[in-house]
Amino acid sequence: MMRLDKLLAHSGYGTRKDVKEIIRKGYVIVNGDVIRDDDFKVDEDNDEVIVQGSSVNYEKMIYLMLNKPDGYISATYDRHDPIVMDLIEGYENRGLFPVGRLDKDSEGLLLITNDGLLAHKMLAPKYHVDKKYYIKYDGIVTSDKKNMFEGGITIDDGYKCKEAKFIPLSSNEAYVVISEGKFHQVKRMMEAIGCKVTYLRRVEFGPLKMDDTLGLGEYRHLTEDEVKSLKIE
Ligand code: URA
Repeated sequence: MMRLDKLLAHSGYGTRKDVKEIIRKGYVIVNGDVIRDDDFKVDEDNDEVIVQGSSVNYEKMIYLMLNKPDGYISATYDRHDPIVMDLIEGYENRGLFPVGRLDKDSEGLLLITNDGLLAHKMLAPKYHVDKKYYIKYDGIVTSDKKNMFEGGITIDDGYKCKEAKFIPLSSNEAYVVISEGKFHQVKRMMEAIGCKVTYLRRVEFGPLKMDDTLGLGEYRHLTEDEVKSLKIE
């Protein structure tokens, strides 16, 4: 059960103050009765709530796919720079956060949710969720170097990365697939083989594929099938 004003505020009907006003004016009907009491308790899963003729679709868990632009930090707070959450509107106080990080200058698929359990599963090393990146780079990747990805590349701090894939697209473009998420991992793996990443975009995150109809900075809800595909057992 939850307060009616909270449910409406969380469903995009405005701030707590705005929704109290809507309720007091008698615009809200719960299971057929006009309710003017903002602390009225509703069963968010079963009660029928109607505001000015339209029924309210309350989502407890929110799953958004964002096409992250360059220049934004993947965090819920930063003292200096814009954060990815600045791009998401209408879900204030819903506890949304980005699942994992893309570097400030990286672009592409970022999952934004308030489902902490799912986030943990997407990030925990034991679930080995693959992440696929499209990169542009300077330098030459010989077939020997390409093969090093399969064996595990050792990066600057001495860490030996897990098996990864390097899929060439042209002489300076490739896909790189990794199942971990060490800080700057793809850039550091490329540095370890004498190359420099000049552009990086995440195109896949586990079963999710970047929706190419989303422009940079745009987002959409995951479809029901996409949400189902994420439920890792
Ligand atoms: N690897 C990187 O180096 N940067 C990212 O943003 C993601 C993976």
